[in-house]
Amino acid sequence: MVQELQRISVQVAREAGALIRELAQKPRYIEKKSRYDLVTDADRAAHTLIKERLLEQCPNSFVLSEEDPETHRAVGTFEKPVAWMVDPIDGTTNYARNIPLCAVSIAAYDPFANQLLAGCVYNPFQEECFYASRDQGAFLNGQRISVSSIQSLENAVLSTGYFNHPEITYPSSNLPETWQFLKESLGLRRTGAASIDLCWVAMGRLDLYWENGLKPWDMAAGILLVQEAGGQVTNYAGQSIHLFQDSLLASNRFLHPAAMRILTQV
Ligand code: IPD
Ligand code: CA
Repeated sequence: MVQELQRISVQVAREAGALIRELAQKPRYIEKKSRYDLVTDADRAAHTLIKERLLEQCPNSFVLSEEDPETHRAVGTFEKPVAWMVDPIDGTTNYARNIPLCAVSIAAYDPFANQLLAGCVYNPFQEECFYASRDQGAFLNGQRISVSSIQSLENAVLSTGYFNHPEITYPSSNLPETWQFLKESLGLRRTGAASIDLCWVAMGRLDLYWENGLKPWDMAAGILLVQEAGGQVTNYAGQSIHLFQDSLLASNRFLHPAAMRILTQV
């Protein structure tokens, strides 16, 4: 069953990825959803395609998508055995500026067992298709992937992301944590797409990623990728991650204690 859900997520993410890549060649329709949040015609077109395809192939399921605000209210009251967590384009600001770091992210979640079952993150601009299913490992374009073996922050390359809410003030801005990680690590990156950060931890390009305030569609597929690649994903305090309201710390597991020290003390 989890492999069938993985197959569906890959097929649909690939189809939606091809669509957003094609639309990137055409005139853009870019709107602001809020002060820091863009949406394009491609986000909406991909959403429509993904929802239709997922429900065709998996009728007894629910689709929670970033671009369908009505569905956000379903959190906590899912009635179907599979709830799909969908971000039609993760990294919309990158997409709008032709920065090739954006992805379609689709995950299948079992709301009754509170478990991620399968997922896919597809970046059509780099032809990178990451996928995983529960207990079956994580893959990039057909090759098994695993997290890095870097043991100390001093040698680690990290990434993070920043707020997109106007009401956030300096202490919760992630800047104090960033300063501390900059001092203690080898280097820091900011891709602008949480799903890609997580997949890069899963394949060892990055050793650690942290961010607060993510939504389930940004992180669901990527969390499973990191776990299936042998990494660790918790909240900042080291507790099990809560998909619907939490801070997120993902690492190759060796760096987890050092990162938790910074994230809980800064
Ligand atoms: C955003 C990206 C970004 C992260 C933001 C997300 P979006 O998603 O994942 O990296 O820092 O928190 O909202 O808006 O591009 O789908
Ligand atoms: Ca998005």
